[in-house]
Amino acid sequence: MKIKSAEFVMSNSDVAKCPKNRVPEYAFIGRSNVGKSSLINMLTSRKNLAKTSGRPGKTQLINHFIINKEWYLVDLPGYGYARVSKTAKKTFQKFITQYFSCREQLITAFVLVDIRHKPQPVDLDFMIWMGENDIPFSIVFTKADKLKPKAIENHIEDYKAILLETWADMPNYFVTSSSKSIGKDEVLDYIHNLNSNMIDN
Ligand code: GTP
Ligand code: MG
Repeated sequence: MKIKSAEFVMSNSDVAKCPKNRVPEYAFIGRSNVGKSSLINMLTSRKNLAKTSGRPGKTQLINHFIINKEWYLVDLPGYGYARVSKTAKKTFQKFITQYFSCREQLITAFVLVDIRHKPQPVDLDFMIWMGENDIPFSIVFTKADKLKPKAIENHIEDYKAILLETWADMPNYFVTSSSKSIGKDEVLDYIHNLNSNMIDN
């Protein structure tokens, strides 16, 4: 799919104030610093559409970008467990769970994980939360430029082994690098196909 236009629409701290129009929406989520904002820039071939930083915690709001005047890409803050007083219960920031619970326009999410690390509890817990709430997602492995192909393969196998303990199938996944533009066509074609299905139906 060719990206003809990519424009910032708005930033919000309140899910209720996000755009109300019913255009297909795709959101990028994952831990801080995993490369969500960089991936949006890579996919749209824009250097500074989404703000990036070497320091975790750069993106603090829900950011909508309209692509080809037809669909939204959404950049979100990183997730982590929210502090819940006196209980050991693990919950994600309200902000994030509200976004995913409320946005009926959301076609699918992309859960980003850094390919260099072994599966982390917070990422696995988030994927389980998405599954429990019937929110479709693909996994996007980021920073593939940092590992050799064999190591990439091994790390994906580690994920498969853990996820298949809980689920019947491995979720759809992509291997990407924003600095080397790896995985760009795969992710964009995937979105394009989903958009086409929406129009056909
Ligand atoms: P928050 O907004 O803080 O949640 O972070 P984020 O997930 O949006 O990460 P961001 O895109 O700001 O990138 C974080 C750091 O990782 C920056 O220093 C990026 O340059 C770097 N980075 C992102 N993607 C890649 C990649 O594919 N390869 C490499 N080598 N570095 C990357
Ligand atoms: Mg960001």
